[in-house]
Amino acid sequence: MRRKWVGGNWKMHGSRALASSLAGAVVDADIADVDIVLFPPFPYLREACAACAGSRVAVGGQDLSEHESGAFTGEVSAAMLRDVGCGAVLAGHSERRRYHHEADAQVAAKVACAMDHALLPVLCVGESLEEREAGRTAEVVSRQLGAVVERCGIAAFERIVVAYEPVWAIGTGRTASPGQAQEVHALLRSQLARDDARIAGSTRIVYGGSVKPGNAADLFAQTDIDGGLIGGAALQATDFLAICAAAR
Ligand code: 13P
Repeated sequence: MRRKWVGGNWKMHGSRALASSLAGAVVDADIADVDIVLFPPFPYLREACAACAGSRVAVGGQDLSEHESGAFTGEVSAAMLRDVGCGAVLAGHSERRRYHHEADAQVAAKVACAMDHALLPVLCVGESLEEREAGRTAEVVSRQLGAVVERCGIAAFERIVVAYEPVWAIGTGRTASPGQAQEVHALLRSQLARDDARIAGSTRIVYGGSVKPGNAADLFAQTDIDGGLIGGAALQATDFLAICAAAR
């Protein structure tokens, strides 16, 4: 039985005050039986980590450098994220792949770096609308997942969360149907199973893209959907907590 996992990706939203109050509300709700991770913007990690200290809610970075340290202006390292209290980090979010041209090999290097520093990597994969319409969904997500298997090895997937986030469903209000999402999740899991069936059976694969309180339960009820990575709805404590409750 895989434990459900829900992440709240705040993207480039909020303020110090919102970070404290939102993280505080999630901690106060004290939701059991679901692993919850909040991903605030870098400047608000301190507030979120302070609010979550000693609770079962973890905090993560939205991105990390694939380098250990050095002359990389604007970048944040895995060691720095650990240092401020993070337990997780997103790697390869579609907004990083799209606006910052992150390639599969670079994303794989970020996942490796996160693991070296005992951060839980949340590997994001997903196809664009154009790729889906061209019938290339399977090819695209397999390539994105395969790059990390190749770099980190299959055993790494005992400590990686995979997030399937179809680009066309992010922030658009156009959620993948539970069936559409399940189909891709099953595909990702079977790809991992070709290397190791036991590990594939234990890897958490979560869905992201316009998850709301109204559609979360149907998505999370699918066999291969182990929770969600939430964007817009993670900025409202009541919505986010309703989604976390739906994962129980
Ligand atoms: P939305 O929930 O706003 O569609 O965002 C999903 C996402 O990108 C989470 O990482």
